[in-house]
Amino acid sequence: MTIITSIEDLRVLARKRVPRMFYDYADSGAWTESTYRANTSDFAAIKLRQRVAVNMDGRSTATTMIGQPIAMPVAIAPTGLAGMQHADGEILAARAAKAFGIPYTLSTMSICSIEDVAKHAGPGFWFQLYMMRDRGFMERLIERARNAGCSALVLTLDLQVLGQRHKDIKNGLTAPPKLTLPNILNLATKPRWCMGMLGTQRRQFGNVVGHVSGVEDTGSLVAWTSKQFDPGLNWGDVEWVKKRWGGKLILKGIQDVEDAQLAADSGADALIVSNHGGRQLDGAQSSIHALPAIVDAVGHRIEVHMDGGIRTGQDVLKAVALGAKGTYIGRAALYGLGAMGEAGVTKALQIIHKELDITMALCGQTRIGTVDKSILVPGQYPGSP
Ligand code: GLV
Repeated sequence: MTIITSIEDLRVLARKRVPRMFYDYADSGAWTESTYRANTSDFAAIKLRQRVAVNMDGRSTATTMIGQPIAMPVAIAPTGLAGMQHADGEILAARAAKAFGIPYTLSTMSICSIEDVAKHAGPGFWFQLYMMRDRGFMERLIERARNAGCSALVLTLDLQVLGQRHKDIKNGLTAPPKLTLPNILNLATKPRWCMGMLGTQRRQFGNVVGHVSGVEDTGSLVAWTSKQFDPGLNWGDVEWVKKRWGGKLILKGIQDVEDAQLAADSGADALIVSNHGGRQLDGAQSSIHALPAIVDAVGHRIEVHMDGGIRTGQDVLKAVALGAKGTYIGRAALYGLGAMGEAGVTKALQIIHKELDITMALCGQTRIGTVDKSILVPGQYPGSP
């Protein structure tokens, strides 16, 4: 058995253990995947300044996001279908995040429901909301998140229409998978996953199925979501959600400075610089490239977070150096989940934390809260003079 030392090791193991359609769903971007690739390659191009003979004792990666104390500036990003990477996936990932002292964000399109995650992993996680046309359902969803004790709402703004991902179409993605011959042949090679799924009732979109009339199975759900995601979403709706929720609000999917200004004007607590993991507008710039201009423009008015491309603690440090108050990991956590369930998510968090801590030390820093651009080599980072 290979010793796991990196997120890449977890990815390789997840690819072995997770049925192909769900592994592909996680590990893919829209169209040519150029933005998906740029998210990671642009991080790799940033160079760090090594410092020596600086006292590196007493280091701390602890900080806050939206005023909440966290063990490191990393939250788990909302990802659809996490409960198809591993049985009961959202509950397991939420537990791992809680034990580590970082936020977990549950997707609207999760397999385990809000209530189920609250019951089995405890309250305090964040809930991600997609804007749908059915405002009655939206109101109920917001109410359910409040009743479950969610401590922030993350409103996604960049998925009014779905970016095309070739693999999902070719694989005929559904949850649970349809028992076609290619799927049966693939599932036969994933005994652990199958055992897990046989042992759970959680195999459909838990926040939706049974909560909206006419959505009793996933066949009708697919039709329902493509009809329901609201292409008319606008800043008036953001205000509507903010008023109904009344708690901490984070706006996800900002790439452009003008939109960042509008996000700051909305009175939300934070925005997430994000291109949806390269899954929406292929050809958009990488998140780490978009970050500095947004921090410059609105960082004094709203907390700026980012996601997209984070596979190491070094990436977290680079994002913080460029002004992100917090970051999110999506795929890195999903690979851990697919590879080893809750222990795999814990492993992913440990790996990222260790890389962050050691890199911080080698850059001559002891506290994440005081890290800034001065740890980066001039001319070798986005926005550098
Ligand atoms: C949903 O958020 C997706 O990117 O598939």
